[in-house]
Amino acid sequence: MTISWDEETKSILLIDQTSLPTSCRMIRCRTVNRLITAIRRLEVRGAPALGIAGAYGVALAAFSIKLTSFPRYTHRVKNAGFAIGNARPTAVNLSWGVHRVLTKAEDLATSIEEYRRIALMEAQTVAEEDSAACHALGDYGAALLPDTGTILTHCNAGALACREWGTALGIVRSAVASGKNISVIACETRPLLQGARLTAWELKRDGIPVTVIPDSAAAHLMRKDKIDCIIVGADRITRDTVFNKVGTYMHALCAKSHDLPFYVAVPSSTFDSIHAGSEIEIEERERDEVARFSGRITVPDGVPVINPAFDATPLSLVSALVTEKGIISPASDWMQNGKIHRII
Ligand code: MRU
Repeated sequence: MTISWDEETKSILLIDQTSLPTSCRMIRCRTVNRLITAIRRLEVRGAPALGIAGAYGVALAAFSIKLTSFPRYTHRVKNAGFAIGNARPTAVNLSWGVHRVLTKAEDLATSIEEYRRIALMEAQTVAEEDSAACHALGDYGAALLPDTGTILTHCNAGALACREWGTALGIVRSAVASGKNISVIACETRPLLQGARLTAWELKRDGIPVTVIPDSAAAHLMRKDKIDCIIVGADRITRDTVFNKVGTYMHALCAKSHDLPFYVAVPSSTFDSIHAGSEIEIEERERDEVARFSGRITVPDGVPVINPAFDATPLSLVSALVTEKGIISPASDWMQNGKIHRII
């Protein structure tokens, strides 16, 4: 499992995604500050996994904060929750996970002991629901795939980005489990290589055929009829826009030009019914992620770098949203009265 709660030590266990594919090691977060560092360094990453990290993070705060006055205690847990929720801005799941556990504990608990018990129970529920959502959307999405085909994906929307199974790769896994002959083209996903390092690693482990390409080769392969459809995950879906790893918008435009289906696979925790795309902050990351490669300087000193972690794809370019509640098409119709609707 990508992320779990260790009951004995009251800490969070994560797969360190920065060390893959060369080694697979675990990190233990015993403090809220260590968890925030893990989120910022992308030791834990991917929207659904961040949702679970946010949820367990509140439980971690609840167990690690040692105060005797209940009002002061809840105030401190809440502040810790806000700090976790703000560790990265774009994936809505992170603040969603924090908010869900804080609200439940605050609504029901009347003592510190109760607060801890309720926070942990709710965090475990968030984690278990994520697994169930990935399997359900995987089954819905598998039905959209041909019996034999090649799927292009970007970044990592797999088991490593969730508790297990995955969203985009969950669809691939479900399709393969149902007997379909599916292979995957993984875009390497510059600059941090989540596609090359993580998607390729987890599919290889499962024996699912995977080939890595430079991001810039995607249009060429679409033109050569080497791709049957594109499936990506998302960090946030607003009323009109999909936010996902930078490069997604480019794939969506290319898919449109080549008349290929472009699917976005997401659990409900990724929907943001409040905001429009223009209101969302896109995380800007450090210069060195682009200006250095393998320990070497690759951009001359003094030359500026722009390094957005995500981009914004209009829902009009998305053929369908695949969720645990079903398939939504047209994608732009996903919301009515603040709720997900139009399930086929
Ligand atoms: O910066 P990252 O690695 O956290 O970005 C992750 C992505 O963009 C994923 O595609 C997205 O979170 C969906 S994961 C199911």
